[in-house]
Amino acid sequence: MNKTPIIIDCDPGVDDSYAIALANSCPDFEIVAITAVEGNVSAEITRKNALCLADMLGINCRVGFGAEKPLVRPYKRDASGTHGQSGVGTVKFPEPKKQPDEKPAWDVIYEEAVKSEGKLVLFAIGPLTNIAIALREHPDLPKYISKFCIMGGGTFGNVTATGAKAEFNIWIDPTAAKEVFEKMTVYMVGLNATHAAALSAQDFDEMIEICGSSESAYLVRELSKFSKFNSMEKGHDNNIIHDALAIASMINPDVVTYENYYVFVEDDPQAENEGETVIDLKGETGKEANCYVAMKVNKPLFADMLKDMCRYYAEK
Ligand code: BDR
Ligand code: CA
Repeated sequence: MNKTPIIIDCDPGVDDSYAIALANSCPDFEIVAITAVEGNVSAEITRKNALCLADMLGINCRVGFGAEKPLVRPYKRDASGTHGQSGVGTVKFPEPKKQPDEKPAWDVIYEEAVKSEGKLVLFAIGPLTNIAIALREHPDLPKYISKFCIMGGGTFGNVTATGAKAEFNIWIDPTAAKEVFEKMTVYMVGLNATHAAALSAQDFDEMIEICGSSESAYLVRELSKFSKFNSMEKGHDNNIIHDALAIASMINPDVVTYENYYVFVEDDPQAENEGETVIDLKGETGKEANCYVAMKVNKPLFADMLKDMCRYYAEK
């Protein structure tokens, strides 16, 4: 059977690492590229983590280095409080063996999309800077993509500094997000969906047990231990595996129910809701729907998929 080619544009990131591990465990997907963007930690670190994740999971794909900073705004802050200084919690990587692609992320994305003849599923689970640049450089990109799925936005926010409705990925680069929403149909897995899929201490215990002491399950075991400790002991939101839910939604359509709405991104730096994905739930704008918004989640199914992922690596 032909596998679906996928690209994961990311800012690894603990939940980005789960997302890559989950996609790699899916027999229907072939990861053709991982592209790195600034976000949870600096671009220098997300780039290195992308190379190391490909090495550790044995993913034979291109790794494209992307943007170091948002399109217009300064890089406001990282999320190392949630992800650790290294971006990947307590995971220890050896120095990467894999070399970055000679092309930048946006060209890697375009080349692979064209090569896929329109079958590519593109995931963006960090700020949307690389995708916005890809669309600026290659305006015909959307026609080569079968689905474009992001983790970002939603009906509420998590960037407490603004006191408003901005979610981190969108808030880091609202200019990019606005451009992307105007140019592509987006499947948006936002915070309302990811919070509804939060894992319990018992879920993490089961995942850790499934991993056992297997060497090939080192990454997912360490991520699970870190998530459990940081959420249950330290009170961070690491029990919410945001990015993996976007991947899961494209593996099994029963995990997430999407509804089609018009969404626009507020990118005005003066606006109190800068970075909000404003969802026209009642059709008041009269604008055509441009976004499939994740509205309902089957949490037990999602948790089972993560446990199956652990089993995949433990039995490898
Ligand atoms: C998003 O922000 C990052 O910290 C996570 O990796 C996820 O992509 C959640 O708001
Ligand atoms: Ca991320």
